[in-house]
Amino acid sequence: MADLEVLQDAAVLIEGERIAWVGPRSEARDLHSAFRIPQSAIDVVEVTGVLFPGLVDCHTHAVFGAPRLDDHERRALGEDYKTVAARGGGILESVRDVRARSESDLVALMQRRVRALLAQGSTTIEVKSGYGLDPVNELKQLRAIRQTAAAERASLVPTFLGAHEVPPEFRGRRADYVRLVCDEMIPAVAREHLAAACDVFCERGVFDVGETRTILTAAQRHGLAVKLHADELEGSGGAELAAALGAVSADHLAAISDAGIRALAASATVAVLLPATMIFLGKRTQAPARRLVEAGAAVALATDFNPGSSPTVGLPLVMALGVSQLGLRYSEVVSAVTVNAAAALGLAADRGQIAPGFRADLVCWGVSDWREVAYWMGEQLVTAVWTGGSACPLQVGPVSLGLHVKA
Ligand code: NIG
Ligand code: FE
Repeated sequence: MADLEVLQDAAVLIEGERIAWVGPRSEARDLHSAFRIPQSAIDVVEVTGVLFPGLVDCHTHAVFGAPRLDDHERRALGEDYKTVAARGGGILESVRDVRARSESDLVALMQRRVRALLAQGSTTIEVKSGYGLDPVNELKQLRAIRQTAAAERASLVPTFLGAHEVPPEFRGRRADYVRLVCDEMIPAVAREHLAAACDVFCERGVFDVGETRTILTAAQRHGLAVKLHADELEGSGGAELAAALGAVSADHLAAISDAGIRALAASATVAVLLPATMIFLGKRTQAPARRLVEAGAAVALATDFNPGSSPTVGLPLVMALGVSQLGLRYSEVVSAVTVNAAAALGLAADRGQIAPGFRADLVCWGVSDWREVAYWMGEQLVTAVWTGGSACPLQVGPVSLGLHVKA
């Protein structure tokens, strides 16, 4: 993860949506002959600063309605995440909100948020459902993601998270809800190709390891990749389950066990760490990133952008936290939001690198040293973004995140 190749005074040749060549600028002059492209067909764009592969935010819950301001303050005054949820806040508050909104309302909200994510350098963004928790509203969220993806310049990768919580109408009969997820929701999601993967919030008091295995094996039978929210608040063997199932990622991991670390290190499952969440929840602990890296696990970082535990769209901020809170090197946090984050979405061969054949998603930062991207905490450093080889407009309204259209 620490092995980055940094070129000075470099050039990138883009053909269509793909990168065709990257190397020293001095060699770029002869490219038209090497690639048999007439010089007049090459558009030259000069950039000053540092060019990265477009960042991959591999864990967000970006389709939601209003922010949850009261949760934040209650936690500040000493209530923990689970107590806030038990009092009517938490995930189920966002579920009531999302159920009351139309698909087009969700699309309008998400468009602003996706533009804000893009303006922070994220060109590929995973987005989970999970605030619907019934067939109609989960599908409504996934369709809203699809519709937003069609209109926006960032790539959106949808994940079905019907098992984010047990909805109130299934209290006391959770087994029936697990059956609904497996027998009705997963088949519908797969039939309509509405998601690439299925996720479960595997945590004591939410879904246990047995229920998680049931749901994720049903998802695999329907051709979906699988991932889990694992060992976030308490350890429950989620990381071990992720490795055993061949999950693309195991996410959170603040309470991962030693056996969990060994299991991930021996597997292809990516450990996705979310340091902004722990900070925003007021926790004093973080996932054991250094131990995961030393053990040989692939570590990625993501925002976890959501209204309850991580209202941030900024991967550069998360990178800075990766260094100062997780003990990662600058080079490691760059790998964590590019190559490894792409792997957490099953896209490692397609994006996350500036290399021939990769999708031409690029971000330019107004800095002189590449490490500054993970240093200027909370600063807006992006000067230009390209997706699929063409430049993106970067407009972000001032209250693009807080604005909530009335249901
Ligand atoms: O990743 N852990 C579960 N889900 C989210 C929180 C979502 C919410 O609070 O709305 C998370 O932190
Ligand atoms: Fe999450």
